[in-house]
Amino acid sequence: MSRVLITAGANGIGLVMAQAFAATGAQVWVTDVDAAAIAALPAGLRGSTVSVADEQGMAALMAEVQATWGGLDVVCVNAGIKGPTSAIVDTDLDAWRDCLAICLDGAFLTVKHAAPLVQDGGAMIFTSSTAGLYGFPYRSPYAAAKWAIIGLMKTAAMELGPVGIRCNAIAPGSVEGPRIDRVFAAEAEAKGMTAQAVAQGYAAGTAMGCLVTAQDVADMAVFLASAPRISGQVIAVDGFTINPDPKV
Ligand SMILES: NC(=O)c1ccc[n+]([C@@H]2O[C@H](COP(=O)([O-])OP(=O)(O)OC[C@H]3O[C@@H](n4cnc5c(N)ncnc54)[C@H](O)[C@@H]3O)[C@@H](O)[C@H]2O)c1
Repeated sequence: MSRVLITAGANGIGLVMAQAFAATGAQVWVTDVDAAAIAALPAGLRGSTVSVADEQGMAALMAEVQATWGGLDVVCVNAGIKGPTSAIVDTDLDAWRDCLAICLDGAFLTVKHAAPLVQDGGAMIFTSSTAGLYGFPYRSPYAAAKWAIIGLMKTAAMELGPVGIRCNAIAPGSVEGPRIDRVFAAEAEAKGMTAQAVAQGYAAGTAMGCLVTAQDVADMAVFLASAPRISGQVIAVDGFTINPDPKV
């Protein structure tokens, strides 16, 4: 039975991933800073309240996982926050650093402390974003972090390949749900548009004219967890972005 660890697994994409892995018969352990959501996890999912940006906390969590399960087969390096919505020239250094601390430092700390537990044949799956494939006006720290996630993933794939661990990244487009609604609202305010117009612009920027679902992303994670010899790749789940900054 696979043993799966998912960061930021108590809500959103991470929770849908957790349920998708559980549906395959895997044992799933999530970590998240949302203590209420951890307490309310569906039956069968284990949870810990640890921030990915807390190195001591992540080290202690991995020690607990090792003592309980004896190792891991899959790690979903999923935690990320949207960061500030502002032009580069208006972005505070503290807001930049807060975004990088969770999106990038958190991914680094997850790999650093979880990789030693992952068995030969295991997989690490990073959640980047289409923001890691293109520029993203008004979201500079987020875009920088999501590009950096890909560099981290490719490096991890090279370091861990010799011990049989595959690393890949998923680049979701705009995922339907409350998080993207907050993104649309913030961008609408920054651009002087309505949130509905921003949402229409995001969909119009894809060949398929759509947003994607958390289930689409979770299904890709389940596939990548057991895709022999696929490593070092970035797979977009986005309806094919053809215009990353549509003006509507
Ligand atoms: N929603 C989208 O449209 C979208 C698109 C592309 C990529 N992504 C990426 O997908 C991942 C998940 O996003 P989501 O849409 O599910 O977001 P979400 O806001 O729905 O959920 C994020 C979860 O992260 C948790 N979290 C926040 N800070 C944390 C920390 N320091 N340590 C551990 N957990 C923490 C929150 O408590 C929450 O449970 C992120 O990396 C995000 O950048 C999302």
